[in-house]
Amino acid sequence: MGKVVILGVFVADTSYRADRMPRMGETILGNSFALGPGGKGSNQAVACARIGADTHMISKLGQDDFAKLALDTWAEAGVTPHADQISESYTGAAYIFVEESSGDNAIIVAPGAAALMDTADIDARAELIKSADVFVTQLEQPMPAALHALGIARAAGVTTILNPAPAATLPEGMLALCDYVTPNETECEALTGISVETEADAERAAAALRTLGVGTPIITMGERGAYLDGHGLVPAVKAGPVVETTGAGDAFNGGFAAALAEGKSPLEAVQIGCATAGISVTRPGTAPSMPDRREVEALLGA
Ligand code: RIB
Repeated sequence: MGKVVILGVFVADTSYRADRMPRMGETILGNSFALGPGGKGSNQAVACARIGADTHMISKLGQDDFAKLALDTWAEAGVTPHADQISESYTGAAYIFVEESSGDNAIIVAPGAAALMDTADIDARAELIKSADVFVTQLEQPMPAALHALGIARAAGVTTILNPAPAATLPEGMLALCDYVTPNETECEALTGISVETEADAERAAAALRTLGVGTPIITMGERGAYLDGHGLVPAVKAGPVVETTGAGDAFNGGFAAALAEGKSPLEAVQIGCATAGISVTRPGTAPSMPDRREVEALLGA
């Protein structure tokens, strides 16, 4: 079993399914509502633990009901929390619009207490980060915390993964701290200026990311699969009708990190990531949609 340390955000996902988005100033009737655990880092941690990694989550929470939801979610998935609970802020929340016909989404995240994570919080977890086989972060918590943690992991020889989501301008040198970077097409365009629609575009974008210092770029391409630099497109694995795509990227990253930490090759790890995502989109919600190892192996025929 590999050890994965994830720096990221937990938020409570408030998810509304409707036929379309309301226009500004308009009220429409939705089809359903659900409250559940979310946040990119937390979703990735849940996926990672379900695939079988010894998973640790660095974050910051408030002292409220949503914090209890975070701690319960992690306990159930087998994620070890390293998250201070502070009184100065609230545990974050996300508004998620899910389009009924496609399962696609649009999201607003308010990270709350997790937006207060700084480099001192990372220093306090430095020994944990150094002890990992794989370190993973995203961009929902403040950039200085992510940059500092990647630096600590890299200096200790820990394999580093940056999921650059949501899309943001990165500080100089950040990509050079990353063994793997896992943008989707939109995030990839934000990093490279290259619009990714085909495998050939992905190949050019991956070359650009390598020039910026990334070890191995991996571009997730939704229903087509994931482009693994040096290999090509690894096809998506279809597990059933798509119900909701929210959290599919997190499923990929969690599955990929868990597999890499236990010594799988990058190609095998990407296949496990694709299968994890392929199952997650057949279920509603984000963290609750993450499959376990047995389901992923059954899908891959392993
Ligand atoms: O990647 C999906 C996640 O993004 C959701 O769970 C939502 O909380 C946002 O952080």
